[in-house]
Amino acid sequence: MHAATIDRYGPADALILAEVPTPVPGPGEILVRVHAAPVTTADWRLRAAVYPKGLRLIGRMVSGLTKPRHRIPGVDFAGTVTAVGAGVTRYAPGDRVFGFNGHGTHAEYVTVRAEGAVAHIPDALSFTEAAALPFGGDTALSFLATFGALKPGERLLVAGAAGNVGHLAVQVGKALGAEVTVMARPDAHPMLRALGADHVVDYTRRDVARMGERWDVLFDPIHVLPYRRMRRAMAKGGRLLVVEGGVREMLQSLWPWRRGGRRVVFNVAMASHESLTRLAAMAAAGQIRPVIGARLPLDRIADAHRIVETRRQRGITMLEIVPDAAAHSSPAAA
Ligand SMILES: NC(=O)c1ccc[n+]([C@@H]2O[C@H](COP(=O)([O-])OP(=O)(O)OC[C@H]3O[C@@H](n4cnc5c(N)ncnc54)[C@H](OP(=O)(O)O)[C@@H]3O)[C@@H](O)[C@H]2O)c1
Repeated sequence: MHAATIDRYGPADALILAEVPTPVPGPGEILVRVHAAPVTTADWRLRAAVYPKGLRLIGRMVSGLTKPRHRIPGVDFAGTVTAVGAGVTRYAPGDRVFGFNGHGTHAEYVTVRAEGAVAHIPDALSFTEAAALPFGGDTALSFLATFGALKPGERLLVAGAAGNVGHLAVQVGKALGAEVTVMARPDAHPMLRALGADHVVDYTRRDVARMGERWDVLFDPIHVLPYRRMRRAMAKGGRLLVVEGGVREMLQSLWPWRRGGRRVVFNVAMASHESLTRLAAMAAAGQIRPVIGARLPLDRIADAHRIVETRRQRGITMLEIVPDAAAHSSPAAA
């Protein structure tokens, strides 16, 4: 099979398309023909060894001390089950599935733990739409619904709203009943209004800390809302959700006794079968609509990485590994 491979940390050119053996599912695993797989900021970090401030050592321990731990990159996927290993009962060949695997998805086939973070794709969703959900959608849902306990009627501020995690957080926030303010450059404002944003702020012209507003929940996937500056813009009981942050925010989160019950929340989202099933249902019901900012074939993976590492992407950058027409076909034709 064809797969992207990486043998060293480095620039996007370090990614090499190669012919490698097709994996064989072991006990408890499924073999998935990958139709679509996003390139995420996690893929960029794992390829370039770029980590938030103060988290370099932890990052290297996770991704590999001297070179990437996994030769085939790619964290998320959507595709068709082509074979199942011993003991697998939840999935069968022909099933459309999507999920988080952590590695190996930027390839024509990947083996996935059947009891891991994988779920069926509802008929209403294409492979590309499903592949777009785990990274940003699960992060948004975990931080807003679980870690941040966002309640209906609360005021939510989303930074980095035009990006992968941000544009899904806007929609999850609306689905949870919040009044949503987004930070983005003006070219993204029409897209964000169409996704449900109630208020838009061009952060290049206005400082959200000095607008005289107070938010209940602040969602920061781009590390631009430091607590010291933002606390004036937090309502009593406000939660600053640090999706991207460094050691400073990690330490701040350990000190919960702040004036007015304000809190810094630092955590890591962990996708599961249950959370992916919930996300898929929200997407099938039209509550979440992933925006695909760029679609590229597998052999242009380096270009996809170059888009993502700008930190200026719009929505999600997607590798469509099975040609586009087939990728959007009905389950019967897949
Ligand atoms: N903790 C967890 O469990 C977890 C899970 C997943 C991801 N993460 C982390 O969360 C981050 C998610 O990133 P992502 O993939 O959503 O990022 P992204 O797609 O690269 O988002 C970048 C967006 O942020 C905006 N932006 C850039 N600079 C900005 C600034 N100074 N102020 C406000 N907005 C700005 C850009 O839009 P404009 O053009 O409008 O500026 C762009 O659209 C990554 O660092 C990832 O590692 C953490």
